[in-house]
Amino acid sequence: MTVVVGIVPAGGSGERLGADRPKAFVVVGGKRLLDYSVEALGAVCERVVVAVPPVAARESSNFVLGGASRSASVRNAVLAAPEADVYVVHDAARPFVTAELVGACLAALEGVDGVVAAAPVTDTVKEAGPDGLVLRTLDRSGLWAIQTPQVFRADVLRRALDVDDAVLAAATDDASLVEAAGGSVRVVQAPPENVKITRPEDLRLAEARLAD
Ligand code: CTP
Ligand code: MG
Repeated sequence: MTVVVGIVPAGGSGERLGADRPKAFVVVGGKRLLDYSVEALGAVCERVVVAVPPVAARESSNFVLGGASRSASVRNAVLAAPEADVYVVHDAARPFVTAELVGACLAALEGVDGVVAAAPVTDTVKEAGPDGLVLRTLDRSGLWAIQTPQVFRADVLRRALDVDDAVLAAATDDASLVEAAGGSVRVVQAPPENVKITRPEDLRLAEARLAD
């Protein structure tokens, strides 16, 4: 049997949200932000490990200490679950994830090392210089905005995360580390609801949607 373990990076401070506590612990719709992700992953995974800021690390048996960067938090949680054959990594900052989306990512893992939830880019994408002058307009067909969940073969993710802290800090997602290690990664289209809470207006929209 394949052991699937959920990893929820929740160790950030939430600087851009500017709440009175770390973002993952902000209460929205009657629950902490991190609870939504833990519940969705829990429906599909054997267990879920949550990487949290130092102040919260002793609050629950499934919490581990987060790291200095998002990927360092993922590494700490991965090291705490060595029994996994497959990891499902999903940010606490995306509370609208569903067990169905996680399942679709797991189903797409056949024949590749990793699968990432993603949205086709709908805006026009241009490259500009530091002076703001446009250098070129990119062809957006084939471009995807990358989200979580991201699922990986466990041995591949462990190897990809076994790099210097500076490399981890520079990575904006886990799949890029897997790609850098030579792994194959596939995209799966996510529903438009799978948005990320970054700023206060995102939280207001999330609250309105959860009240529906
Ligand atoms: N994260 C983490 N450990 C860190 C930094 C981030 O586990 N050292 C997690 C966050 O808790 C979040 C996810 O990674 O669930 C995505 O990060 P982001 O949205 O940037 O959250 P924060 O880093 O908390 O927010 P900010 O960058 O505004 O401070
Ligand atoms: Mg951050």
